[in-house]
Amino acid sequence: MIKKIIKKPLIILGVIICSNTLLAQKKSTEEKIDSLLSLMTLEEKIGQMVQYSASWDVTGPANDSYNQNKLDNLKNGLVGSMLNVTGVKNTREAQRLNMENSRLKIPLLFAYDVIHGYKTIFPVPLGESASWDLEIMELTARVAARESAASGIGWTFSPMIDVSRDARWGRIMEGSGEDPYLTSLIGVAKIKGYQGDDLSHPTSIAACAKHFAGYGFAESGKDYNTVNIGIHELNNSILPPFKAASEAGVATFMNSFNELDGIPATANSYLQRDLLKGEWNFQGLMVSDWGSIAELINHGYAKDKFQAGELALKAGSDMDMEGAIYENSLKELVQNKVIDIKLVDDAVKRILRVKFQLGLFDDPYKYCDEELEKNELYSSENQEVALDAAKKSIVLLKNDKQILPISGDVKSIAVIGPLADDKDSPLGNWRGQAVPNSAVSVLEGIKNHAPKSVKIRYAKGADLSIGERSFLKPMTINQTDTSGFEKAINLAEKSDLVILVVGEDAYQSGEARSQTDIGFAGVQNELIEAIYKANPNVVMVLMNGRPMDLTWSDQHIPAILETWLLGSQHGNAVGEVLFGKYNPSGKLTASFPRNVGQLPLYYNYKQTGRGNEIPDVTYASYRDSKRDALYPFGFGLSYTEFEYGKIKLSQEKFSKGESIQISIDVKNTGKVKGEEVVQMYLQDLFGSVTRPIKELKGFEKITLNPGETKTVTFKIDEKTIEFFTANQKWEAEKGEFKIYIGTNSRDLQNTSCFYQ
Ligand code: NOJ
Repeated sequence: MIKKIIKKPLIILGVIICSNTLLAQKKSTEEKIDSLLSLMTLEEKIGQMVQYSASWDVTGPANDSYNQNKLDNLKNGLVGSMLNVTGVKNTREAQRLNMENSRLKIPLLFAYDVIHGYKTIFPVPLGESASWDLEIMELTARVAARESAASGIGWTFSPMIDVSRDARWGRIMEGSGEDPYLTSLIGVAKIKGYQGDDLSHPTSIAACAKHFAGYGFAESGKDYNTVNIGIHELNNSILPPFKAASEAGVATFMNSFNELDGIPATANSYLQRDLLKGEWNFQGLMVSDWGSIAELINHGYAKDKFQAGELALKAGSDMDMEGAIYENSLKELVQNKVIDIKLVDDAVKRILRVKFQLGLFDDPYKYCDEELEKNELYSSENQEVALDAAKKSIVLLKNDKQILPISGDVKSIAVIGPLADDKDSPLGNWRGQAVPNSAVSVLEGIKNHAPKSVKIRYAKGADLSIGERSFLKPMTINQTDTSGFEKAINLAEKSDLVILVVGEDAYQSGEARSQTDIGFAGVQNELIEAIYKANPNVVMVLMNGRPMDLTWSDQHIPAILETWLLGSQHGNAVGEVLFGKYNPSGKLTASFPRNVGQLPLYYNYKQTGRGNEIPDVTYASYRDSKRDALYPFGFGLSYTEFEYGKIKLSQEKFSKGESIQISIDVKNTGKVKGEEVVQMYLQDLFGSVTRPIKELKGFEKITLNPGETKTVTFKIDEKTIEFFTANQKWEAEKGEFKIYIGTNSRDLQNTSCFYQ
């Protein structure tokens, strides 16, 4: 008791001192920013708002006037940040040029697209999101931050939290699928992983919530395309992950290439000034996307560089990424009083604030430790994390007659397919500084994990892509050469089982990699059919960055394993799953359509006036296709089975300040240990704005031993049911809600509750 009494005032005193210290620190950072700002010339201020890409070798001379100009500006303290300078040697040299030559010695901030790993590569984000495992997603971001920080990078352009519902869009691979709630949670986990608890820590790097906003809703899935959505859809489906990122303390945002209802996002002040910097009180910096300020001219929104600069800055874009607009327009705009210097000051303060938070003013060479770089990159610990994340991302789509895991009766396996021995595609398109061809291929993984007695033979069958493959060049697909078929068919005929590794080349998904066909490119369809004819005992191992059209395969192939592009440890993860050393538990975060014509396709669609399911002519569907997904959102099988009990509610009705507990028992009724993602969805039956037929509102990933039962409990309160209403506010509206619980977004049981 005495202890308690003594402790309390001490705690209170501690809290006061602590918060005062924090306040003092914060204040002093703001004071430092202000005093630095007061020393800066207009040119130096504008310089901070410029971000250059390293298109020249910073350790050598610039070889043309364009790059010489960049180099001169760097030395003159007229550059705030650089992207694409990587490695301690290069970043140290660029920083040295800046620090030793510039007047005010404001440290440069080095940025890079560390999307799913820096040197150690993790699954592509769409794949990793299928783990529904927030801890592993935070951990892979942490490891990526450690590797990047050890290699000179202080800022990653990640996470991409664009909700997307269109598999044609190449960048669907870079996000977390079609659901705003799940994308929000994953975005926050990633931000925590990159930024840690304290941005000034040597292994913390600034994260970037992108692309603000609407980029994932590009019309017809064509990258960079127009986005036309209304204010309610924008707020309810696209913005929640960005709001969550801002609340989680993300240091930076990036705007997007697309226009939104006629206004390009880069010049959109509703998004950047009213919401982000206004309502959400975001204090960090907003970088443009690559050249997107200059692209205001291409959009037909600005008539020249001056108007582009004016519109972008007024709308809230703080830094111009490789666009050459701010550096060539802002000075005149300020001098001519078109732009108030206060807007420039605000942008510069935001940029300096991030640099102060990162501790760059204390040590501009903070990220420049060669010894650490040697030890951290691609370490065996990091490979273990990559393997864990890869296993957790795999989704079992089909498993007839439990062909998987491969039984002990199988004595010979034919490994066939253009991607089977591909050591490069698993690295994906955004592969950081990965060494080309450094991933473990599926063939290698199979050899590593198959019992020694099993005979493994390989035939490629056909090439998928031919010639040079790179981030910047279009890829050529093999459309004709089937000369390898015969060998593959022979091998299939004489083997007990075929593992057919097909799908997409790494460079079929990613930026500017949209497609109108989401089936198997090249001669793969012919190969699949020929192999199936030779031996129907086929396990299809898919590698791809987007939901694909698998209709034929689903009708014929007995087992289908979705393995995405899993990064450095791809093959080992697949090997463990194929041979039952790991029980797959991934669940899709983007619906797999039956055909490309269904796109955009998503589980959380709206009712129509004509209904969606009525088997009549005049309902909202197609004449030549079912309307639902082949594999729905949240879907994924396991090597065991789970039985769901009945939904139990603590009460049926709730009011403001109250909550309902919803619980359900889940039992592992199979023979092996397994993990299940228990999912809860809600449907708001009536609203001042029409509501989706269901929305994910909770999930829990549980591990169950054979025979074991666990109770999973969810909570619903007014926060859970809030949405952007006809009042253009986030509010909870009274009425009836359907609660759905189950194993995926289609197979659910339901009950009702009421908010009153
Ligand atoms: C353009 C992409 O849209 C963006 O996501 C990326 O971060 C920048 N390029 C920088 O590479």
